[in-house]
Amino acid sequence: MGEVDPAFIQALEHRPKPQTSFAQGIPLIDLSPLNSPESIHAATLVSQIGSACHEWGFFQIINHGVPIQVRENIESAARKFFALPKEEKKKVARDEINPLGYYDTEHTKNVRDWKEVFDFVVRDRNLLPASPESDDEELKELINQWPEFPPEIREVCEEYAAEMEKLADKLLGLIALSLGLERTRFSSFFDEHTSFIQLNHYPPCPAPDLALGVGRHKDGGALTILAQDDVGGLQVKRKTDGEWVLVKPTPDSYIINVGDVIQVWSNDKYESVEHRVKVNSDKERFSIPFFHNPAHRVWVEPLEELVDDHNAAKFRPYNFGKFFAARKRSNFMKLEVDNIQI
Ligand code: SIN
Ligand code: FE2
Repeated sequence: MGEVDPAFIQALEHRPKPQTSFAQGIPLIDLSPLNSPESIHAATLVSQIGSACHEWGFFQIINHGVPIQVRENIESAARKFFALPKEEKKKVARDEINPLGYYDTEHTKNVRDWKEVFDFVVRDRNLLPASPESDDEELKELINQWPEFPPEIREVCEEYAAEMEKLADKLLGLIALSLGLERTRFSSFFDEHTSFIQLNHYPPCPAPDLALGVGRHKDGGALTILAQDDVGGLQVKRKTDGEWVLVKPTPDSYIINVGDVIQVWSNDKYESVEHRVKVNSDKERFSIPFFHNPAHRVWVEPLEELVDDHNAAKFRPYNFGKFFAARKRSNFMKLEVDNIQI
């Protein structure tokens, strides 16, 4: 095990194989038809999205409309922040009072992840008008802590978050259409969304065959939009054969995956797929996921349009806020939506 703390060591069956190819990767989808007046192109796009969600649960997008500068700004701020001495980063550490901020002790299924993180919510409770339903205890806690260094970090994070919200809306519209629903079918679930962003740093690891940057898991929200750098390491479990497939870094692209909530809304048509992160011994890696989550108050259940006599509901309704918090407390041990399957 060399220099690596045993807390990071994966059980034998979960260790990454040393050689993994980029072959037969997730679909690459060009979003430029969104800007085209020709509806024929839009129809093709909707069908590409539908197939990708059904066959992979994951896809990569290009021509997405997010300005490259906005992404470069947050990536550069993340690099500067993680380069700070640990004591400095710990000034914004998570604690019992603050569930958001810096941490380096994430565990997935009781094994420690080889990463450090800074996270923040997109709708900071401080910025919102007091709501009549402010009996939501978890929502009240969602207040961001901002580091002093680099000084621009708050501004560039908020700018990036606004772009992610716009992109997520477009993607949810396409996903709704691909399920035969109205484009805006999901909108009301997100009017008080609880989306958050993580800045991830995976330092070089002396034992990349024993540890993982993030252990195998599914995402518990609706949709994830990930910016990964050019190092690569995200692996997706291919539905056809269960192989772990590396997602090839593509410049200025985003990786999209559907989470548990869309699996339930779609009544299993689009499954939330397992993924994990491989680390390597010589290169550090950075990634920035945007987790698009519905409002805490939302009851998630298969959409009535997708349930009938031949397609019975496969899940029972659950409260998003409560389920999400319990899932995190359990260290992602329970396999997510499997818990609420009928
Ligand atoms: C995650 O799935 O939480 C992280 C993805 C990544 O860093 O590539
Ligand atoms: Fe994930």
